Amino acid sequence: MRRWRTLLATAAAAITAATMGVLAAPGAAHADANVVGGTRATQGEFPFMVRLSMGCGGALYSPTLVLTAAHCVNGTGTNTSITATMGVVDLNSTSKITRKSNYVYRAPGYNGNGKDWALIRLASPVTGLATLPIAKTTAYDSGTFTIAGWGAATEGGSQQRYLLKATVPFVSDTTCNSSSMYNGEIIASNEICAGYTSGGTDTCQGDSGGPMFRRDSANAWVQVGIVSWGDGCARPNKPGVYTQVSYFASTIASAAASLGG
Ligand code: ARG
Repeated sequence: MRRWRTLLATAAAAITAATMGVLAAPGAAHADANVVGGTRATQGEFPFMVRLSMGCGGALYSPTLVLTAAHCVNGTGTNTSITATMGVVDLNSTSKITRKSNYVYRAPGYNGNGKDWALIRLASPVTGLATLPIAKTTAYDSGTFTIAGWGAATEGGSQQRYLLKATVPFVSDTTCNSSSMYNGEIIASNEICAGYTSGGTDTCQGDSGGPMFRRDSANAWVQVGIVSWGDGCARPNKPGVYTQVSYFASTIASAAASLGG
């Protein structure tokens, strides 16, 4: 069931790439919320946000590395086919910064269940954009999170030209795994849920790979999640499911070091 959803998302991303950023599949005619339930981010508000050409999001981990979802990439190895767009909220802006990929590192052992993270190395470093540090402990794995992306603003809707943002509350693994929500589908150790019980605000198709983040004790942004999957978008009792970054922090750091930082 959950694997089916992940594969569907990948197919949607492929369609998005093929149509150069426009996805207009007929949806489940459910969501009338308007990232769903979001508002426009302002230019420079989230300098680390990355749009990837296969129709995913990402976050600038270092000047040459983008952290995204494993389900957004095909595997580990040389890959010069991805374009990363950064530094703008408007994807059509002439001020956008773009880089081609030269290598992709997908989480070892990724099989569509959990471990939904990957690093994309850019062909040359980006300057002038703040990176987003990842959470190294579980200290920030609760509270209120910010989500952002150029994905669909309604379930089944089209990809967005302007970056949208929203905030969503943490949902505990116990609640998220309860029978009214995901009924045991959540991998508690390495997935984290966020959203309102009533729905209305969520990430959606095309936001995958993008960061979920919050302020740390020094008021700096820290990444706690990676957009992974959900049942539809913004449905009641179906929070968004995110890769729990803190669980993979040391593995991600080692992989980043092996890629040259
Ligand atoms: N897997 C989706 C993608 O490829 C993201 C789904 C997020 N869904 C949600 N309800 N939070 O873009």
